[in-house]
Amino acid sequence: MSQEAKHIIDESFGYLVKTYAPQPVVMDYGEGCYAYDTDGKKYLDFAAGIAVASLGHAHPAVLKTINEQAARMMTCQASYATKEKLDAAKALVETSCFDLVYFSNSGTESVEASLKCARKWAYDEKGEQANEIIAFRKSFHGRTYGSASVTEKFHVQPFFGPYLGGIKWAEFNDLESVKAVASAEKTAAIIVEPVQGEGGLVPADAEFLKGLRALCDELNICLIFDEVQAGFGRLGTLHAYEAFGVEPDIAAWAKGMGTGFPVGAMAAKEKFGKAIVVGTHGTTYGGNPLACAVAATVMEELTKPGFMEQVGKTSAILFEGLNEIKRASNKITEIRGKGLMIGVDTVFDIKNVLGGLQKNGLMATQAGKDTLRLTPPLIITEDHANEALEIIKTTLGELEE
Ligand SMILES: Cc1ncc(COP(=O)(O)O)c(C=O)c1O
Repeated sequence: MSQEAKHIIDESFGYLVKTYAPQPVVMDYGEGCYAYDTDGKKYLDFAAGIAVASLGHAHPAVLKTINEQAARMMTCQASYATKEKLDAAKALVETSCFDLVYFSNSGTESVEASLKCARKWAYDEKGEQANEIIAFRKSFHGRTYGSASVTEKFHVQPFFGPYLGGIKWAEFNDLESVKAVASAEKTAAIIVEPVQGEGGLVPADAEFLKGLRALCDELNICLIFDEVQAGFGRLGTLHAYEAFGVEPDIAAWAKGMGTGFPVGAMAAKEKFGKAIVVGTHGTTYGGNPLACAVAATVMEELTKPGFMEQVGKTSAILFEGLNEIKRASNKITEIRGKGLMIGVDTVFDIKNVLGGLQKNGLMATQAGKDTLRLTPPLIITEDHANEALEIIKTTLGELEE
């Protein structure tokens, strides 16, 4: 590492609150599916900001939109309509099962809006006792109080408590455990990730999600899908719910929706979305013209003919290649996931795997306790997929048990 890079790392962590453990490189810029550090080293970016850079770095259409829109108008008081907000909302509604959209700036805000919307709907529909929310073990929904309250692991951090009341826990992919805590009278909502991301890249069984849908219909409960990580093409379908053939009542979106620009949304079927009325919820930045213009551009790219087919192709190459490495070396113990949201368990300590990949020019992230998470830009080609497989194979070959 150069002296300059070392200096930037050391000095940064003198100024910053220590939320994340520092990486030993300083990132400089990104271009397409690659990122470059300040020492000029090139990395194939299979982290993509943790499933954020859906169109990679510096996508020309996104750059054009940002430049033009920033020059026209970046912010506008939220009660004004803008063409950009209309374009983004229309694109989201017309390509989904939802009727109403609320724009936010991040995943956690989209989850907050979803929980508030569901509780408000249940209050109006069933009365104030209907405030319980069912969440799942190993879930991750964000770090603000509402979303943290439905994220299991945060409940073992006593220093932040107390969290929201009325949260009931069930086992992911176990419908009976949900039935045991669901009640027509008391349950407002069930919140579930179609693929548990931070929990280790564990996809829901389609039958489980269908079971949740039937249970919610039977007991008049709002079904929320947290698609923050799995949405916007990540699973090879525009919206995550499409990959399972189950429609939720509300979805929380962010990450890939802005390919790096901070934008998110809660989308709701009319019956649920209309529970939020003027004065009950809002945001200063959410729905700003710049974020909406970016979201509309991302939607335009994701819905181009052949885009999702290409995601399916590169996903298949990665799954096949990883399985081949698993068969040949016994160093991979399990491969999970869907589309371009892939989890790999190995016999090695995840820190060593990530360090080795970084040394060999591949950026990836950790999920769960020790799962290697691959969430590349959705625009990767067959060549990028093969390049990543080669680096993974070499890295696992170099590591000692
Ligand atoms: C499924 C899920 N929900 C919510 C969030 C929170 O998103 P953000 O970090 O943008 O607040 C994340 C972030 O990783 C996530 O994976």
